[in-house]
Amino acid sequence: MTPWTDRAGNLSPLKAVAFAGTLVPALLLAYYAVKGFPQGAGASTLLGPRPFTAAIHETGDWAIRFLLMSLAVTPLRRIGQWPKLILIRRMLGIAALAYALGHLVLYFFDQNWDVVRAVSEIALRIYLTIGFVALLGLVALGATSTDAAIKKLGRNWNRLHKIVYGIGILAALHFFMQSKADVYEPTLMAGFFMLLMFYRLAHWRGLSLMSPLVLIAIAVAAALSTVVVEAAWYGLATGVPPSRVLWANLQFSYTIRPGWWVLATGLGVAALGFVRSMGKAEAPRGRRAARAAA
Ligand code: HEM
Repeated sequence: MTPWTDRAGNLSPLKAVAFAGTLVPALLLAYYAVKGFPQGAGASTLLGPRPFTAAIHETGDWAIRFLLMSLAVTPLRRIGQWPKLILIRRMLGIAALAYALGHLVLYFFDQNWDVVRAVSEIALRIYLTIGFVALLGLVALGATSTDAAIKKLGRNWNRLHKIVYGIGILAALHFFMQSKADVYEPTLMAGFFMLLMFYRLAHWRGLSLMSPLVLIAIAVAAALSTVVVEAAWYGLATGVPPSRVLWANLQFSYTIRPGWWVLATGLGVAALGFVRSMGKAEAPRGRRAARAAA
């Protein structure tokens, strides 16, 4: 099976587009690196005066974005009733791993391949240690994502792959901790992560993801949680009183705070669910529910 064909060997436009999408950030980065390193050039490059730092940030950003995209597949399949989305879940997860590995390699480049120094930094700086543990988790998931491994692990595969939720938390924490004063981006990623987790929690508790009310409640809960995380982080890390962060969330002249983007995304998903669910009933969950329904 190639990255652009389905199990039957037919071309899958969905897979082909997703595969091309996973390559775009890497190709752009390579382009900037090549264009930015003309012979004998000084500090000015398209990646800025510190190209390795810029590239480390880019790859880190894409690692967490692809991780979130892979986590979005399952809820979107249920809400949008798109079973075929499963075709790209593994690819998105592998993309997250590939960008995270690239991120680590660039970090070593940035340390001039002084392996002892790089490793001791990872061991001593807590935000790097957290990133390293997240990366180890991604490697474990990637290594067990081949068809053969999935077959061999059976039910344990599902159990093992639940560590992806822990990896998401560690990756978000690593993102927050490496940020200096501004935590806009990490707050946004943490907000989307919470939104995706709330869909799962609702499903596990037996709530229907085809109910617009449930989806709206999840959107509001995730947005409020995002504001709370933002206020808590600023409070703990910088001493800014939570009231100022809450107030900033009600000011729209400067920026639209992450909580609002999470709310807009959640409501967009609710609207999608509403449109897709019109006239359709959700399939019963699990074998027992199916037997009961029958
Ligand atoms: C051994 C593993 C890792 C190392 C050594 C590492 C190292 C770093 C370093 C040095 C930075 C920049 C810090 C700065 O400029 O002050 C960074 C930022 C970042 N890392 Fe990692 N990291 C690792 C794993 C990960 C993983 C697994 C992810 C995500 C899945 C990740 C996501 C990010 C993100 C999102 C940023 C911030 C990017 C930005 O500010 O735009 N890192 N990391």
